[in-house]
Amino acid sequence: MTPSSSTQIVPDVSLVPRHIAIIMDGNGRWATKRFMPRVAGHVKGVEAVRGIVEACAKQGVEYVTFFAFSSENWRRPDDEVSLLMRLFMTALEREVSKMHANGIRLKIVGDLSRFDDKLQKMIASAERKTAANDRLTVTICANYGGRWDIMQAVNKMAAAYPDAGDFSEEQLTPFLSLAYAPEPDLFIRTGGEERISNFLLWQLAYTELYFTDTYWPDFDAAALELAISSYQQRERRFGRTSAQVSAQIPVAKC
Ligand code: IPE
Ligand code: IPE
Ligand code: MG
Repeated sequence: MTPSSSTQIVPDVSLVPRHIAIIMDGNGRWATKRFMPRVAGHVKGVEAVRGIVEACAKQGVEYVTFFAFSSENWRRPDDEVSLLMRLFMTALEREVSKMHANGIRLKIVGDLSRFDDKLQKMIASAERKTAANDRLTVTICANYGGRWDIMQAVNKMAAAYPDAGDFSEEQLTPFLSLAYAPEPDLFIRTGGEERISNFLLWQLAYTELYFTDTYWPDFDAAALELAISSYQQRERRFGRTSAQVSAQIPVAKC
């Protein structure tokens, strides 16, 4: 299906969102509350990803995007960072074949150049293996930052149009790292914080936001259903009035 800008096409909210983007937060606090090391929360967090991927596939969601490691997460203690990298590799080793068998396409986006060679090769091979699957696209944002994404797209666009004076949004968006997906319909952040933390800054322009206090390791299929039903009660207006939306007047270009 062709990606579309959600500021132009108004999705029917009574349907399941096509694209859900998730900030998985609260792993550390989940563990600390149980007198366990933070790493135990990250291990549980990987299990929660598995559950949500399955639930999304069952619900008919087309794209689910997880924020796994931000460009700012390098600021964490070295041992936590290296543990997160190891967990990422183990999860890739264990899950890719299962995902492939279930018709899932896996994409990893972010500045991957900072990862070690072995991890970069595993990422490339996982993407290659699952590239033709079309039941659900799972994107893992790793060493990702919304500002990084915009800047790398700007640089690529400038190189592609060396003679251009003014650029348009249409020229930029194909270079953004999630250009293969429609903009997220629903954003979920677990763990109680109500901020974007440099996630998909461009793509979230008109996304419906949902925040929950539930820590990520506890976020399960039932919690996802609550988030989806909250989404289904929203009215997405994209700048128009409620009356225009009710009359189903097509969105005009600005
Ligand atoms: C999210 O959980 C996972 C990553 C950022 C990798 P946190 O590790 O941020 O957990 P809290 O916010 O400290 O509880
Ligand atoms: C956001 O969580 C990043 C990921 C979930 C990967 P953080 O825990 O790093 O966010 P802040 O620092 O509380 O904003
Ligand atoms: Mg956190």
